Amino acid sequence: MRKKLIAANWKMNKTRDAAARFARSLAERFGDGPDGCEVALFPPFTAIEAVRKETENSNIIVGAQNVFHREQGAYTGEVSCGMLVDAGCEVVITGHSERRLVFGEGNELVAAKTEAALKTGLRVILCVGETERERLDGRAKETVQTQVGIALRDAAHDGITVAYEPIWAIGTGRRAETQQIGEMHGHIRQTLSGIFGESADGIGILYGGSVSPENSSDVIGVRNVDGMLVGTASLELESFASIIKKVLAG
Ligand code: PGA
Repeated sequence: MRKKLIAANWKMNKTRDAAARFARSLAERFGDGPDGCEVALFPPFTAIEAVRKETENSNIIVGAQNVFHREQGAYTGEVSCGMLVDAGCEVVITGHSERRLVFGEGNELVAAKTEAALKTGLRVILCVGETERERLDGRAKETVQTQVGIALRDAAHDGITVAYEPIWAIGTGRRAETQQIGEMHGHIRQTLSGIFGESADGIGILYGGSVSPENSSDVIGVRNVDGMLVGTASLELESFASIIKKVLAG
């Protein structure tokens, strides 16, 4: 059985102090590693170590929101996979739509980052998702299939989780319909089987995009949804805790 994963993507939010306080309280409540469910925090780079310190005796996983695929060198402003491991990260997000849209990351760069992270021993949450235009034009499945296919072309299946995040649902309060989520998750699972064969069965597929305490029970109940990547609703402890509880109850 695939373990559920509930991940908090804090984006460019929280000082070290605020991040540490959140992590400490979360570890007190869910640090034992609730049955069949993993909890992960993705602070900004500057707060990774502070969060790691608060969670090191717990089962809460700490990750980074981005990475560069080169090992070291003249890449001003970038951070390598080895540096993330050194800071206490177990996992990294690649291909988030904000990286794709705001920073111009294409599928090839996402593939290079994904491959480098997996080779370094990091787990990866690969984000994919279509724009509203692509959905309206009937190209949503094709877009997502291409994103998955290129990013995982040279990857081993171990350590991969995919997050389906329709771009039009991120930060908008407009979550995808359960039917849309079910269809796309089924399509992603099929695509993964095409790449990895039977070993694809172990790969979790998360949903992300305006997940909230109010809608999380519905989302987790959809077939092929193995967890959630939560942005806005993960910034407040009570709201994130409530999402975790709903998933545990479901
Ligand atoms: P959101 O963000 O929950 O605020 O929509 C999700 C994400 O970008 O991962």
